Amino acid sequence: MHTIHQFGGNWTQEKLERLQKYLRAYMSIFTANPWARRYTTYYVDAFAGTGSRTSPDSSPASTLSLFADQEDMKEVKRFYDGSAQIALELDPPFERYVFIESNPQFTEELRNLKARFEDRNVQIVPQDSNRFLQAWCHSMNWQHSRAVVFLDPYGMAVDWETIEALAATKAIDLWVLLPVGQAINRMLTRQRIPDGAWPDKLTRFFGTDAWKGSFYRANQQSQQQLSLLPTDDAQMGFEKTATFESIGSFFSERLSTVFEEVAESSLVLFNSKNVPLYQLFFAAANPRGAPTAVKIANHILRG
Ligand SMILES: C[S@@+](CC[C@H](N)C(=O)[O-])C[C@H]1O[C@@H](n2cnc3c(N)ncnc32)[C@H](O)[C@@H]1O
Repeated sequence: MHTIHQFGGNWTQEKLERLQKYLRAYMSIFTANPWARRYTTYYVDAFAGTGSRTSPDSSPASTLSLFADQEDMKEVKRFYDGSAQIALELDPPFERYVFIESNPQFTEELRNLKARFEDRNVQIVPQDSNRFLQAWCHSMNWQHSRAVVFLDPYGMAVDWETIEALAATKAIDLWVLLPVGQAINRMLTRQRIPDGAWPDKLTRFFGTDAWKGSFYRANQQSQQQLSLLPTDDAQMGFEKTATFESIGSFFSERLSTVFEEVAESSLVLFNSKNVPLYQLFFAAANPRGAPTAVKIANHILRG
């Protein structure tokens, strides 16, 4: 049985094409360059899904197969591949693959995928990726290993501590999806700084509460009115200044505080109504490799 994993539209394809291009470039460097060849290469898919997907706005493959020629079918197939499968199909491949997925039904699908790639060294981790990645980063010997990590959550599932742990290895290239419109912009209420559980969630995500100062400004009129009222509600009297652009810039600056280098280009992924949903970022942790890695990533992100 093939579990249907339905998410995304064309923007998903855009994202996966960028990842695929980078993984190809990465492996050709790590295969050709004698200095780089000494490292064991890892591809870590921390929100791995099933390895394949169906898109809500595409024709079912069974319909297309009646009309399409072989070349078209290749396109269709590529469209349906998820990140794990794309990574497994690389030639040359990574030496090790780590697929982390918390949904038990999806990990079962990943086991089926692994069985189809017998010659690949695949570890399937049925756990929460934050917990696993933080421990994994600390346990690995980074003198001998290098990795590309892909963080592709639906929402704000990545904790800042995980980003810090990845950066601290000085050995990881990171592709990460920011849920700029899908989650963050929606949490940033207009007339006041959000209250309840949301501020803590935003602070855990960004690793600082400085987002308040970056995304809000004091509303002079409300401040005057508040000063007359017997209230000490610190969240009120502010108005939202955040835009999709400023949220993306803030995240990029946060990445720069821990990674060696962050690609200045990023890719905004829009939904069918042209509203930004996600933004794809790249950051490199290794001081020696970062300039080349970022140059390649910038080129891919602009392409
Ligand atoms: C957007 S999907 C990933 C799609 C995948 N990259 C692909 O291209 O096929 C996000 C996945 O993360 C999984 N997930 C959500 N929270 C998680 C967590 N804390 N740890 C591990 N996996 C998680 C979900 O079950 C889902 O399969």
